[in-house]
Amino acid sequence: MNHLAPSILAADFSKLGEQVLSVRKAGADYLHIDVMDGMFVPSISFGLPVIRSLRPVSDAVFDVHLMIEEPDRYLKEFKDAGADIITVHAESCKHLERTISHIHELGAKAGVALNPATPLSVLDYVLPEVDMVLIMSVNPGFGGQKFIDFSFDKIRELRKKINELGLDTDIEVDGGISLDNVSKVLEAGANVIVAGTAVFGGDISVNTSAFTEVLKRGDKRV
Ligand code: DX5
Ligand code: ZN
Repeated sequence: MNHLAPSILAADFSKLGEQVLSVRKAGADYLHIDVMDGMFVPSISFGLPVIRSLRPVSDAVFDVHLMIEEPDRYLKEFKDAGADIITVHAESCKHLERTISHIHELGAKAGVALNPATPLSVLDYVLPEVDMVLIMSVNPGFGGQKFIDFSFDKIRELRKKINELGLDTDIEVDGGISLDNVSKVLEAGANVIVAGTAVFGGDISVNTSAFTEVLKRGDKRV
């Protein structure tokens, strides 16, 4: 099934609760929450207290994207704060398989994110254990960047692998997605779409509905 995950990194933080409600009301079933530590990526965004405050406001699936070094140190805190899916970067985990198991033991879904330059082969042995693979289509750290075109090939290749193995792993794509390229991202094989600027820049309800319409039409798996 296709899902829309608006990234609150592009929201107006002075109206965060209100905007989170708006995207949910307009049909987004996921909420993408970008946590940055100023080490794994250059920027610092927000952390646990923000997630805790938002949890009672929304029943969306909290899709927490950890752009932090050694995420194992905080997995339990993120789960307790309200994360449903915890996504870690393959590049920031010394023992990726252990981290994935740890996330599952906590009762959350486990996602693994790959930076644009990271090959799919890092997933060769762990793919069956992963609930969602996040293909970064920009270098992580900032919203509003341009979609990197070779990501299409990467998505296609990953979908092929998943199908060949008979898995039902979700493919999330994050960075530079707009109404102009979202259909192509879906056609390549993604089913979880992150959009920050394209949802929160402008009329949030109109943008969200426009995306959810495209996602519904492109849904081959419902
Ligand atoms: C980038 C973040 C993204 C970002 C996407 O490091 O992981 O989730 O918010 O923003 P847009 O959709 O504006 O590229
Ligand atoms: Zn993200």
